[in-house]
Amino acid sequence: MECGKTDCVEVRIVECFEIIGGKRLQGEYTLSGAKNGVLPILAAALLPEGESRILDCPGLSDVAAMVQILEALGCRAEREGRVLTLDPQALCCTEIPAELMKRMRSSVFLMGPLLARCGEVTLCCPGGCDIGCRPIDLHLEGLKKLGVEIREEGGLFRCRAARMKGAEIRLPFPSVGATENLMMAALGAEGETLIRGAAREPEIVDLQHFLQKCGARVRGAGTSVIRVKGGRTQMAALRGTEHRVLPDRIEGGTYLAAAAATGGELLLQNACPDHMESFLQVLETMGCRLLRSPDTVYIKAPGRLRPAAVRTGPHPGFPTDLQSPLLTLMCLAEGESQLEETIFEARFRTAEELAKMGAAVTVSEGRARIRGTGRLFGARVQAPDLRGGAALVVAGLAAEGKTIVENICHIDRGYDTLELGMGTLGAEMIRKGQNKKK
Ligand code: UD1
Repeated sequence: MECGKTDCVEVRIVECFEIIGGKRLQGEYTLSGAKNGVLPILAAALLPEGESRILDCPGLSDVAAMVQILEALGCRAEREGRVLTLDPQALCCTEIPAELMKRMRSSVFLMGPLLARCGEVTLCCPGGCDIGCRPIDLHLEGLKKLGVEIREEGGLFRCRAARMKGAEIRLPFPSVGATENLMMAALGAEGETLIRGAAREPEIVDLQHFLQKCGARVRGAGTSVIRVKGGRTQMAALRGTEHRVLPDRIEGGTYLAAAAATGGELLLQNACPDHMESFLQVLETMGCRLLRSPDTVYIKAPGRLRPAAVRTGPHPGFPTDLQSPLLTLMCLAEGESQLEETIFEARFRTAEELAKMGAAVTVSEGRARIRGTGRLFGARVQAPDLRGGAALVVAGLAAEGKTIVENICHIDRGYDTLELGMGTLGAEMIRKGQNKKK
């Protein structure tokens, strides 16, 4: 069984989740720091002088891969439980090793900080989940505006900037990664940079908080215009800091979906309901009862879920990362639902796996029509990608009988021991198989 581009190909090839479905989930779960929040922050820790302490750093294989890249570049990294300390003082390399780069797309975040700090970076095309075409043209075009010269040779991008200069950059699409990368690169560009059409995800606001605590003059994150004051003096003033990563709204959505799928009841702790509002509203449409407080979300699922019609979109729209868990809920609802994917076309590969569990989903041109029957049946399925894998776990928890989810290395990229978290809520879910080295 091939499992893709992550390090788990070597060590976790035979691991799978075995789930006995039909248990009603109940209890409390405390959210981890966000995967999509911590990855750009780890890259940003290259910018200031001195060490940064990152609190609530989740134990994910993507985080381990990013730390490995930072170490390969010469940084010192130390982890003690959920605290990761990074010191970029001994940074000695600006070429990101190709085999590490291919493990995950987030390695692209290193471009901005390395250009700001060293004026150069060499990398190959990044890897990551296979959820459709994921170019980096918006990153590259933005960097060119700041004066970066980019040469493409034999699959490598060689980026150099003797002196970057602040500029006005207009993103034609609010790419999360390009917004974050350009915010960080702009710190090394003399004068002011204006990023228009910026993405507005909460993780971008969190990156801004980290940069501000380091002393950076960045503002506007959370709106579509971000302003950065950069240059040599600004860079020289940056100092390492301590920062707690924001809660993972996608992990939160996955746990809520698991509760909704099993007719359960759950209190999410360390949650930020404002960041999850579009998902919470859909859960309400489907019949769930929700209570929000500033840092918790409580859900009580109905006996039967109702269908819904949803379209994904950039924040504050419905997050594409929760599209797959929602697809599972729609299969479990009674009646016809519609789901439109506008960001990553290949996410609907999850539908083929759900079909093995009895789902009736028709997909055409980025739209899915789901004829929900209220039931799914246990089957052997394969996680097609990170969030698709989580959706299959949710399906397995609700299904009648036993489900085996294979290719779980994808799931480990974004969920810290999902089986233990679900287990504390009463799920019968275990990790099986032995570690095998190739
Ligand atoms: C980030 C998230 C990912 C989430 C996605 C959309 C992280 C680590 N990952 O990914 O979980 O699903 O946002 O919310 O934060 N695009 C281009 N050219 C580019 C860049 C992007 O065409 O240079 C396109 C992509 O192909 C995609 C869309 O823009 O269709 C959104 O991509 P983007 O927002 O950049 O996603 P990521 O930052 O990769």
